[in-house]
Amino acid sequence: MRLLVPLVGFALLVLAAYAPGPTPAAPEAAPADSSQWENLQVLPDSISRDALIGMMRGFTEALGVRCDHCHARGGEGPPDFPSDANPHKEVAREMMRMTWQLNREALPAIEGLHEAEGARVTCYTCHRGAARPATAPPAEAEPAEHDHGEGSSPGDSN
Ligand code: HEC
Ligand code: HEC
Repeated sequence: MRLLVPLVGFALLVLAAYAPGPTPAAPEAAPADSSQWENLQVLPDSISRDALIGMMRGFTEALGVRCDHCHARGGEGPPDFPSDANPHKEVAREMMRMTWQLNREALPAIEGLHEAEGARVTCYTCHRGAARPATAPPAEAEPAEHDHGEGSSPGDSN
C-alpha cells in the first residue's frame, strides 16, 4: 500500500494537469476489464482508459507530436501501444518520473511558492509544443549585440 499511494498520487497529479475537463465519472460501461493494460511501468494498472488516453493526448499536445513519436508503428494500422521498441517511450517514462519528482519533492521544498494550486510543473512547462525544448529565447528577441558572420552588411569583409 505504501508503494501504491505515490503512484496513485502521481496519476492524479498528471490527470489534473492533462485532463481537458472534469474527469468523467464511471467511463467504463463498455466492455473493459481491470487488467486492460499490458505494459505500464510508471502509471498504475488501475488507471481508466479515459484517464490514460487523456494523458496521452496531453503528451502529444505538450510535445507537438503524434502518438507514434513514442509508440512503435505496427505496420499500416495503429501503433503497437504496449511495445517498448520506440526508444522515445522509455525517455517519456523517465520524463514522467522526473516531472513527478519535481512536483512531489523539488517544488514543495521551495518556500514561498503558491502551494495551493499554481506551483506545478507539467510536460508543457518545458516543452511548449516542441519535442526538444528550447534552452534560450528565440534569437529575434535578443538585442543584436554580438557580431555573427551571417547577415552582416555588404560593406563587411572577412
Ligand atoms: C511522449 C511520449 C508519448 C506519446 C506522444 C504518446 N504516448 Fe502512449 N505511452 C507513453 C508511455 C511512456 C507509456 C507507458 C506508461 C507506463 O509505463 O506507465 C504509454 C502507454 C500507452 C498505452 C498503454 C499500452 C499498454 O497496454 O501498456 C496506450 C494505449 C497509449 N499509450 C496510447 C497512446 C495514444 C493513443 C497516443 C496518442 C494520442 C499516445 N499514447 C501518445 C508515451 C507516449
Ligand atoms: C524540466 C523540463 C522538462 C519537463 C518538465 C519535461 N521534459 Fe521532456 N525533455 C526535456 C529536455 C531538456 C529534453 C531533451 C531535449 C533534447 O534532446 O534536446 C526532453 C526530451 C523529451 C523527449 C525526447 C524527445 C525527442 O524527440 O528526442 C520526450 C519523449 C519527452 N521529453 C517527453 C516528456 C514528457 C512526456 C513530459 C511530461 C511527463 C516531459 N517530457 C517533461 C525537458 C523536460
